[in-house]
Amino acid sequence: MYNSKAYSAASATSPLTSTKIQRRDPTEKDVQIEILFCGICHSDLHQVRNEWSGVMPTVYPCVPGHEIVGRVTKVGSGVKKFKPGDLAAVGCMVDSDRTCEQCKAGLEQFCPGLILTYNFPDKHLGGVTYGGYSDSVVVDEHFVLRVPAKLNPAGTAPLLCAGITTYSPMRHWGVKKGKKVGVVGLGGLGHMAVKFAHALGAHVVVFTTSPGKKDDALRLGADEVVLSRNANEMQKHAGSFDFILDAVAADHDINAYIALLRRDGNVTLVGAPEKPLGVSAFGLIMGRRSLSGSAIGGIAETQQMLDFCGKHNITSDVEVIPIQKVNEAYERLLKSDVKYRFSIDLASLKAE
Ligand SMILES: NC(=O)c1ccc[n+]([C@@H]2O[C@H](COP(=O)([O-])OP(=O)(O)OC[C@H]3O[C@@H](n4cnc5c(N)ncnc54)[C@H](OP(=O)(O)O)[C@@H]3O)[C@@H](O)[C@H]2O)c1
Ligand SMILES: [Zn+2]
Ligand SMILES: [Zn+2]
Repeated sequence: MYNSKAYSAASATSPLTSTKIQRRDPTEKDVQIEILFCGICHSDLHQVRNEWSGVMPTVYPCVPGHEIVGRVTKVGSGVKKFKPGDLAAVGCMVDSDRTCEQCKAGLEQFCPGLILTYNFPDKHLGGVTYGGYSDSVVVDEHFVLRVPAKLNPAGTAPLLCAGITTYSPMRHWGVKKGKKVGVVGLGGLGHMAVKFAHALGAHVVVFTTSPGKKDDALRLGADEVVLSRNANEMQKHAGSFDFILDAVAADHDINAYIALLRRDGNVTLVGAPEKPLGVSAFGLIMGRRSLSGSAIGGIAETQQMLDFCGKHNITSDVEVIPIQKVNEAYERLLKSDVKYRFSIDLASLKAE
């Protein structure tokens, strides 16, 4: 074991503060990574504040962070994909049982034995896993991704959650040229969804509550922008969408979006608000519309997404911050005041 610097929260109401955690020495299949950048996902905030207590209660101290890009510093003797010096990435998962139906299908995110990057049982050291708000991490090579060399590391980090979470459902639901696609909420996930839907050739409409984001939405690849609090603007799109991705982190009216679907259209939820959403049966019944959810994506698809980003030169629009600004960043995230993802420069941890 060795010590690693990190930022952790001591309770649901405590700020994140500097701490030391222990990491395991790399075993045969492990890759040790010096973390360069870690994105701030709204899930980090939900988890730190124990907003998902009914589904995944938070164990404190909590070190969040699952959008990790770094440099390989050491590998175990059985590691084949990486060598010291390589750029590498880690997303939301660090282990699974590898044997179940889900794992065999490359859908590790649905494995009953899934271990998430933070707040899940750590079978090596006991306690729970600690995430990427840290200077170092050790992960089994199966869960470590290759990063296309030409992408900038700060903007690549958010691809590991915001990227795959939006790419995967779009591939699943057949987003392509000729399809009309909506993206609800222009935050970290939403802005990646716009980039992917545009790159896949769809007609993209952004729904936002922030009038000030209109120009950005168009620049990011939207064909149209709708202010979702304006009922007239919403009404113009009634019954017209093939697919809508909802990436909103807070309570909102999902029925307003179901009503915009054409026959057999689908709304997929990736946003995970604290409170249940009220769904009207009639919105779904009429038009055989469907409402579904999606969670990140499997490891093979995450690599495919990163390679797609390499090919199309796609990264996240980031505001790079030192770790010392993380609590301020959380407050801004709650105000939808980030363009469009915070990426923590972990070199700032050296000062702690
Ligand atoms: N399913 C998964 O696997 C998965 C993975 C990662 C994250 N998530 C979840 O996805 C959600 C979004 O994450 P994120 O990191 O993209 O968050 P984010 O950057 O905070 O973006 C959320 C966006 O939602 C919109 N919004 C906020 N409050 C709203 C309200 N009251 N009514 C309507 N719209 C509102 C805002 O966009 P506008 O300003 O444009 O309105 C905001 O930028 C979170 O709940 C997160 O936990 C799920
Ligand atoms: Zn996330
Ligand atoms: Zn499994």
